[in-house]
Amino acid sequence: MLTDNFGRRFYYLRLSITDVCNFKCNYCLPDGYQCDQPRDFMSLDEIKRLTSAFAGLGTEKIRITGGEPALRKDLPEIIATCKQTPGIKKVAITSNGFKLPEHLPQWLNAGIDAINISIDSLDPRQFLAITGHNKLDTILKGIDMALADGRPTVKVNTVLMREYSGSDIQSYLDWLKDTPVTLRFIELMQTGDNQKFFDAQHVQGSRIKQNLILDGWLPVIQDKAAGPAQEFYHPDYQGRIGLIMPYSKDFCDNCNRLRVSSSAKLHLCLFGENGLSLREQLQCDDIEPIQAKILSLLGDKKAAHFLHDKLTGGTKHLAMLGG
Ligand code: 5AD
Ligand code: SF4
Repeated sequence: MLTDNFGRRFYYLRLSITDVCNFKCNYCLPDGYQCDQPRDFMSLDEIKRLTSAFAGLGTEKIRITGGEPALRKDLPEIIATCKQTPGIKKVAITSNGFKLPEHLPQWLNAGIDAINISIDSLDPRQFLAITGHNKLDTILKGIDMALADGRPTVKVNTVLMREYSGSDIQSYLDWLKDTPVTLRFIELMQTGDNQKFFDAQHVQGSRIKQNLILDGWLPVIQDKAAGPAQEFYHPDYQGRIGLIMPYSKDFCDNCNRLRVSSSAKLHLCLFGENGLSLREQLQCDDIEPIQAKILSLLGDKKAAHFLHDKLTGGTKHLAMLGG
């Protein structure tokens, strides 16, 4: 089983399948994706071995991330491979949703259980200013389709920025009245590339939390494979609200996830130093050496990130690792 030196157990794998992204989110890839290294993404066979190895060590949930995972043509096969791995109970995806209405049926056929879509503003002009793409209507249409289908759970990620969403909480609340999604406000995190932007735009989620509680929002009890969000519900709202506050005290105490990059490197923390390669072990169908390697590397996992000291590790931006 995957347990670290601090007694934390890892039920949840975040699997990045590409670091390429077609959006230019101002906090992540303001100049767009820069192709500065040869592409060496894991093949479907490597992904199959990796997920079997993790599942055999107790992993129950896989989230497929990017970059933008839907840029890989074999995404439906990857979803199906994860879903068919014995022991994996839940397969989720984090996407920018750029072609959600077109992609959704394929993802559903492949067995997707949960979809997270990033929407950093509900104002189309602001959305364009943040991401470089005029896609808000398409994305909202895709979300409506997913809700109408009823099978996947739908979450929406919103990065809190002083200039945008930070001042526009009310439009999200209005939307959540009748929309059964979980909206997660994510505090902006500093990365190697975004220091100036971070200093100008970072706002804390704690004020929003206080206001929600004053307005009658109640905490949701969560299960062991859940993400790091503190979630709230309200009897008058169909949607829920989550807050992801990586700068809050003890944020890392309940860490339950590990990450693998698209080039097969194990990352023990989003803000760790360089990843540790599993590539050699992934070349053969025997999963024991893969598991032995993962277990041996896990001993190096630190108690917490060092973001408070402005140390962002090797993470230049989150497209490298899928957040
Ligand atoms: N800080 C906070 N959230 C970020 N994301 C990407 N970069 C950052 C950052 N620096 C978000 C994306 C996506 C999720 C995977 O992480 O918007 O919703
Ligand atoms: Fe935006 Fe995600 Fe692409 Fe980064 S990886 S530019 S956050 S859509």
